[in-house]
Amino acid sequence: SLLSLEKIVALSKRRGFIYPTSDIYGGLASSYDYGPLGAELLRNIRNLWWREMITCREDMIGIDSQILLHPETWVASGHVNAFNDPLVEDKVTHKRYRADHLIEAWLEKNPQDEKIVVEGLDLPGIAAFIEKYHVKTPDGNDVFPPKAFNIMFQSSIGVVEGEKMPVYLRGETAQGIFTNFANILNSTRMQLPFGVGQIGKSFRNEITTGQFVFRTLEFEQAEIEYFFDPEKTDWQPLFKSWQDQMWNFIHGTLGIREEKLRWRRHSDQERSFYSKDTYDLEYEYPFGFKELWGIAYRTDYDLKQHIDHSGKDLRFRDPQDPNRSIIPHVIEPAVGVNRILLMAMCDAYWEDSENNRVVMKFKPNVAPYKAAVFPLVKNKPEIVGKAREVFHMLGKKMGTCWDDRGNIGKRYFYQDEIGTPFCITIDYQTLEDDTVTIRDRDTMVQERIHIADLNAKISAALEA
Ligand code: GAP
Repeated sequence: SLLSLEKIVALSKRRGFIYPTSDIYGGLASSYDYGPLGAELLRNIRNLWWREMITCREDMIGIDSQILLHPETWVASGHVNAFNDPLVEDKVTHKRYRADHLIEAWLEKNPQDEKIVVEGLDLPGIAAFIEKYHVKTPDGNDVFPPKAFNIMFQSSIGVVEGEKMPVYLRGETAQGIFTNFANILNSTRMQLPFGVGQIGKSFRNEITTGQFVFRTLEFEQAEIEYFFDPEKTDWQPLFKSWQDQMWNFIHGTLGIREEKLRWRRHSDQERSFYSKDTYDLEYEYPFGFKELWGIAYRTDYDLKQHIDHSGKDLRFRDPQDPNRSIIPHVIEPAVGVNRILLMAMCDAYWEDSENNRVVMKFKPNVAPYKAAVFPLVKNKPEIVGKAREVFHMLGKKMGTCWDDRGNIGKRYFYQDEIGTPFCITIDYQTLEDDTVTIRDRDTMVQERIHIADLNAKISAALEA
C-alpha cells in the first residue's frame, strides 16, 4: 500500500524532524523549520554529499557564494526576464497555481489519447490549452486567463528611501559558481576537466504548494558545474558518468530502494533552449514519481552570458597550447537537499505490525543519531556515571542520544521511531564486567558486548 504523506508529516512533528515554521503564529506558506532530528539529518546528507562529490574527487572543489549577488547576474542568467512563468487563478476559491503544475496534475487525472507536452508553453499557448481541454483546478472550478509572474524574491540594499538598490535572493546556487569562474581559475591549480560544487539556500516565490518540504519558498540546493573542453572531452560518456555518480549516491550511499527510483529524459519541448540533454532522477514520493535531482548539459550558455554582461574574459587558456583559449562547456547535476531528506524519510518509514511499532529504517550513516545510551535505572549513581562515560566516549565520534526516562521498552519504542540503529543499556552487570547490551533497531536482537568494542561495532555499521 502507498505510504501517505500525512504519516510522514505527523511523525515529523511528533518526533522533531520538521515543524511548520512560525507555528505559534499559524505558520507561513510553504515554509518549514527543521527540529533537532531534522537538523541532524540535513547535516548528515550535506556531509555525505560533500565528501563523495568534492572531498573524494581530485577533479572537484567547493565554494560558498552569497545569497545576494549583483543584480546583473540574474539578467545574464535569464531569471529576471525569462522566468515569467504563467500563473492561473481559481475563479471560485482564488487559489493560484503555476499553470504547468496545474495542467500536469489535471492530466494525471484526465489522461488524453494524444501525447501532450506542457512545459515550455507560453502565455497564449497555456490559455489555448486550458480552453481546449476545459482544464479545471483540483477543486473542480474554472480558472481566470493565465498571467505572467516571476519567481525571484526581491529585496533591497541601502537604508535611505529613494536610494535603495534592488537585489534578488538567489533563485539557484549555480550562478555563484559561474560568476566566480575566473577567480577560481586564477587562484587554484585546477585544469579542465574539473568541477565546482556548492551547497546553500535558494529562494523562489513558488505558487504550487502543499507537498510538505518537496517544494518550499526557501530551500537548500547542492549543485555542481562540471567544466570541460568539448573538443577534448566527449560529453556523452561524461554525462553518463555523472548519472552513475548520482545513482550511486542515492542508492548506494543513502541506501534508497532501487524500485523507487527512475530516470526521466526531458522531451525536446520541455528542455531549455540552451540545453543539449536533460534527465531527472525521480523518486516515488507518496504523491507519485517526482524530480529529485536534475542533470543538464548546458553547453557554454551561462559563461557566454556572463562574458556578454560583464565584459570580462572568462575563457580557459589551454596550458598545453597557449594559443588556444576556449569557453568551457558544463554539465550540471543539481539537487535539493530537502528533497533528499523527504525521500530518505519516506523510504525509511516502516510499520512493523508484528511488533506493533513504527521504525525509521535509515541506513546508519544517514540516521540522525547512530546510538542511544540508557542507564537501566536513574537512581543508582554508579550506573548513571558509567552510562555518562559511554555517552561521552561515543559522542566524540558520532551523534548519540541520552535517555534515562521511563522503562526500557518505551525508550526503545522512541528510538525506533527516530531511526537510531543501536541502543546501549548500562545495567548492574556492567559494574562487574564492563559489558553492556546493544540492541539492533531492525532485528530487535540484543547482545552483550564489552564497552571497549562498542565503537568498532557501530563504526563498522556506519561504513557498510
Ligand atoms: N541550476 C539548476 C536548477 O536550479 P532546478 O531543477 O530548478 O535546476 C534543482 O533545481 C533542484 O533543486 C531540483 O531538482 C530540486 O531538487 C530542487 N528544488 C528546486 N526548486 C525547489 C523548491 N521550491 N523546493 C525544494 N527544492 C527545490
